[in-house]
Amino acid sequence: MISEKILIIGASGQIGSELALRLRELHGNDNVIASDIKEGSEDLMSSGPFEIMDATDESGIAGLVEKHSITDVYLMAAMLSATAEKMPMKAWSLNMDSLFIILNLAKDKKIKKVFWPSSIAVFGPSTPKHDTPQTTIMEPTTVYGISKQTGERWCEYFFNKFGVDVRSIRFPGIISYKTLPGGGTTDYAIEIFHEALRTGKYTSFLSEETALPMMFMEDAIKATVDIMNEPAENVKVRSSYNLSAMSFTPKELAGAIKKEIPEFEINYKPDFRQAIADSWPSSIDDSAARTDWNWKHEYDLKNLTHVMLKGLKESLSLENK
Ligand SMILES: NC(=O)c1ccc[n+]([C@@H]2O[C@H](COP(=O)([O-])OP(=O)(O)OC[C@H]3O[C@@H](n4cnc5c(N)ncnc54)[C@H](O)[C@@H]3O)[C@@H](O)[C@H]2O)c1
Repeated sequence: MISEKILIIGASGQIGSELALRLRELHGNDNVIASDIKEGSEDLMSSGPFEIMDATDESGIAGLVEKHSITDVYLMAAMLSATAEKMPMKAWSLNMDSLFIILNLAKDKKIKKVFWPSSIAVFGPSTPKHDTPQTTIMEPTTVYGISKQTGERWCEYFFNKFGVDVRSIRFPGIISYKTLPGGGTTDYAIEIFHEALRTGKYTSFLSEETALPMMFMEDAIKATVDIMNEPAENVKVRSSYNLSAMSFTPKELAGAIKKEIPEFEINYKPDFRQAIADSWPSSIDDSAARTDWNWKHEYDLKNLTHVMLKGLKESLSLENK
């Protein structure tokens, strides 16, 4: 068996921190190097090697790859949708420069396999909104979406032209309780749980009928691990796979929370993020992922709500000790 030596870039973030812990369980702590521009959670920092590194530092990243004999890179560093609208050029540089550094390392055979997450933000207002197909009109109107769509084109190009083994998923909004979200438009669906437990009420920055595709972190991590473990010939889409678990509106999420906390109250005060959400699909057709590499989600709205409240309650009671 060829053993993998993994580098995660952006490992202190919402997805990276949980992905790093899972990959350490699977491959051994010392075989998973976490890196970021900032330190991460206690669990991340204490469970294995960590390097402070800027994802846009080409020679620094190449040095890390050589120093640790890296075979696989998971590039999780990016500027997310809401923050990117405030700093368009910075978002473009981070999201694109970091990707080119990794694709070129793979092209030069310094690494073997790359995971790079895309997003439902690649779609735009002209895309069919319901059950959005794998292949369809893509005219993203956000800086973040433009960077992800461009990234997908380059991934496919590097695969076709240079045989780079890059694998990608269009993540929906990822919901988790261990690490706070990083400035996306679906962050409301995490904040709402924190506020339900802390104050019993929440003001949503999206309107009550805004349906968006969402997924619990466990499922997102499973999808990432699964697509990276799949034999290369089964990964037929080399831009990025649609991936779906559930879709809900703020009103439906509030309803699910009310079933567990009856006194919970929600209000709506849409801000600039409403326009971003309105440009995205409300549900996704992920049959290609289900067919090509047997993708299956586990969490729906009901069990998502239950595990989020349970997990957050436990971490809040630990904080108060
Ligand atoms: N969370 C979601 O709902 C979601 C949905 C779709 C796609 N994605 C994608 O998944 C990936 C991870 O998302 P996330 O939610 O964990 O984001 P996040 O913002 O929580 O984490 C990103 C991490 O990257 C780090 N970072 C930022 N600039 C860096 C730099 N110059 N060098 C090194 N590290 C840097 C940050 O410190 C942070 O720890 C991103 O590509 C994102 O676009 C996320």
